[in-house]
Amino acid sequence: MSQKICIGVAGLGTVGSGLVEMLQKNHDDILRRTGREIFIKAAAVHDLSKKRRLPPETVLTDNPMSLADDPDIDIVVELMGGTTAARHLILRAIENGKSIVTANKALLAEYGQEIFSLAAKKNVAIGYEASVAGAIPVIQTLKNSLAGNHITSVLGILNGTSNYILSEMNSRGLDFPTALKAAQEMGYAEADPSLDIDGFDAAHKLTLLIRLAWGRHYPFANLSVEGIRRVDPLDIEFARQFGCRIKLIGMAEEKAGKIKAGVFPALVRSTMLLARVNGAFNAVRIEGNAVGSLFLHGLGAGSRPTASAVLGDLLALAKRNVLNSADDNTGFVDDLPLADFLSPDEAVNPWYVRATVRDTPGVLRDIAGVFAQENISFAQLIQKEKQDDRVSLVFLTHATQGRAIRSATGALERSGILLVPATCYRILENRDHEAEGA
Ligand SMILES: NC(=O)c1ccc[n+]([C@@H]2O[C@H](COP(=O)([O-])OP(=O)(O)OC[C@H]3O[C@@H](n4cnc5c(N)ncnc54)[C@H](OP(=O)(O)O)[C@@H]3O)[C@@H](O)[C@H]2O)c1
Repeated sequence: MSQKICIGVAGLGTVGSGLVEMLQKNHDDILRRTGREIFIKAAAVHDLSKKRRLPPETVLTDNPMSLADDPDIDIVVELMGGTTAARHLILRAIENGKSIVTANKALLAEYGQEIFSLAAKKNVAIGYEASVAGAIPVIQTLKNSLAGNHITSVLGILNGTSNYILSEMNSRGLDFPTALKAAQEMGYAEADPSLDIDGFDAAHKLTLLIRLAWGRHYPFANLSVEGIRRVDPLDIEFARQFGCRIKLIGMAEEKAGKIKAGVFPALVRSTMLLARVNGAFNAVRIEGNAVGSLFLHGLGAGSRPTASAVLGDLLALAKRNVLNSADDNTGFVDDLPLADFLSPDEAVNPWYVRATVRDTPGVLRDIAGVFAQENISFAQLIQKEKQDDRVSLVFLTHATQGRAIRSATGALERSGILLVPATCYRILENRDHEAEGA
């Protein structure tokens, strides 16, 4: 085994520059752990004129493909993002027999089948710990540490930007546009924040987690995804009165071989650990039939935290005698079959429903009548003092199917009782056996 490993790093932005920094800073630790020098032979960027902090021997190029074609490079580290140039680079590098490390969840969610199947054919390893929840080692946990379990659910706060915005709305009483602006000023949100706030980034990560938990391919396009744009400060305040926090949740559950999954804002009981995950942090709760419930918490993004996950993959590869071996890419030995889906509408939860109505006698009775037709019963009700002649009525229901809630609120809309469409969120709470330290 050669004492030196040559890597090519495509992308020296937030994550790539963190990787270069930590490779230099932790050089001696890395050498002691792997017995090998990790040498950045070349790095690729868009703009060659920007100043970069690279080792003097590293070649800088604006042609990422040259990394895939360089016979001296053992591992291509893809940190460019996007799904076009990154896909071409990774496919070419695999064709050329190089191992891959990437943080690119969008690419692996949308083109994972193609990439993993080519990697299997070419017997090439792909490390992607940084692609889900930044620094949190959830990929290795599902792939290795929990491999002896039958996983029953994976639930998490998978997008730090959305969590930061919701935390600011909760703690400072901000409305959504102001909290988004604060997130942009802090560097947590992109100028175009839609991938984060519309739930697609969390959905990319959830697609990867489903693949790792159940060895099934759940096409990203089939996931039900709802973001946080419509979360109103009123709902944050009502949630608080009910002892809950609103969080953007990615959730997947397995029931009798079928997978029910989605990304949605939900009221989370404040007795759950998830409710206490604030700011730009991420968390994942995994349930398995041997482990019970496991909770992972940490920084979901950022230069050094994400580089930590990239380095973990790099060191694992560096320690192998034979770099290229695809046997651990997905965590399953067979090709991954398509998941059997269960509509999220079939999920049974308590629900939060806010209805804005004209304050007229009998309105409550009429609403209760419509809900009763769907066999929905109420556990709690709050009425907010009226403004003009409008009043907000908030109901917490007993556990019921999403389908019934949709049908009831649809009937209310058609009847003309509602002044604006109802706001409906699932409520997540601990089951009796899983109190999480209230
Ligand atoms: N940021 C995080 O905290 C975080 C966390 C987890 C995962 N990730 C993932 O990590 C990846 C990188 O994210 P990032 O935040 O580091 O991105 P970034 O700051 O935008 O950096 C992207 C880098 O790639 C280079 N690049 C982009 N397209 C290129 C192309 N076609 N040819 C050559 N160079 C190109 C850019 O060059 P220039 O410098 O010249 O512009 C830049 O150096 C993404 O897949 C992202 O989803 C990021």
